Amino acid sequence: MTVPARHASPLSVLMCRPTHFEVTYSINPWMDPDAPCDTARAIAQWDALVATYRSLGFSVSFIEPEPGLPDMVFAANGGLVVGGLAYTASFRHEQRQPEAAAYARWFASAGLEVAEAASVNEGEGDFLVVGDTILAGTGFRSTPGSHDELSELVDLEVLPLTLVREDYYHLDTALAVLDARPGREQIAFLPSAFDEAGLAELRRRYPDAIEVSEEDAAVFGLNAVSDGLHVVTAAQATRFHAQLAAQGFVPVGVDLSELRLAGGGVKCCTLEVRPARAAREAVA
Ligand code: ARG
Repeated sequence: MTVPARHASPLSVLMCRPTHFEVTYSINPWMDPDAPCDTARAIAQWDALVATYRSLGFSVSFIEPEPGLPDMVFAANGGLVVGGLAYTASFRHEQRQPEAAAYARWFASAGLEVAEAASVNEGEGDFLVVGDTILAGTGFRSTPGSHDELSELVDLEVLPLTLVREDYYHLDTALAVLDARPGREQIAFLPSAFDEAGLAELRRRYPDAIEVSEEDAAVFGLNAVSDGLHVVTAAQATRFHAQLAAQGFVPVGVDLSELRLAGGGVKCCTLEVRPARAAREAVA
């Protein structure tokens, strides 16, 4: 492929400080409540992520962390905001269920139209917007019913993708959107995380997509946030950095190793707050 020119469009994001972060239960294979976990270190790493976003010109908003909700730092799971509409989360596991209402309150206070989910879904953990499509994960957390519900609410195609590996339980652990702009769509993914049909569909739609190594996926390299030029990703995912650079992207490595103890990375800590389309065009 010829390397396309890349352009940065700074994002608006919502984040939640890991004030109450710890690993007290296990709902994915990365979580071991008996392993030591350092909350102060998690906060320092997260602060560095906030600083990185600010240096890229992102607008960063914060939701108040709540005691007793150690995974609330993973803001991506709080919902999906697209076109000024917030589709709320409805968590699979009871330990995280109270987070949904906290995020819904934030959406309402930010002036977003809130659509309360009837089906189990974990927001941007499983819903990734690329072009006019929402790539929608299922298999472990979000249900096919939530895909149907979402497609009734938004004017975008919802493409279901079935995840097959427990360690890549959310779509955003196995697939990164590198450029979401219509006509320039680009993604990266881990082939072994998808069933045969999903893998074939990804390769058909995104023939130039970056397919990452098991090693880079295992350090959560794919749990990344891109503004179309800069790709904020795990510092440890070095082969992925080289693949990105070869396609004209600028990898920006951050270390979130402490949050990885809960099965999360860069993208998990980040919920994109997409403006209504008219507002976005007015800005552009
Ligand atoms: N411990 C959290 C869970 O298992 C981690 C969530 C990570 N978030 C994400 N968007 N992948 O639910």
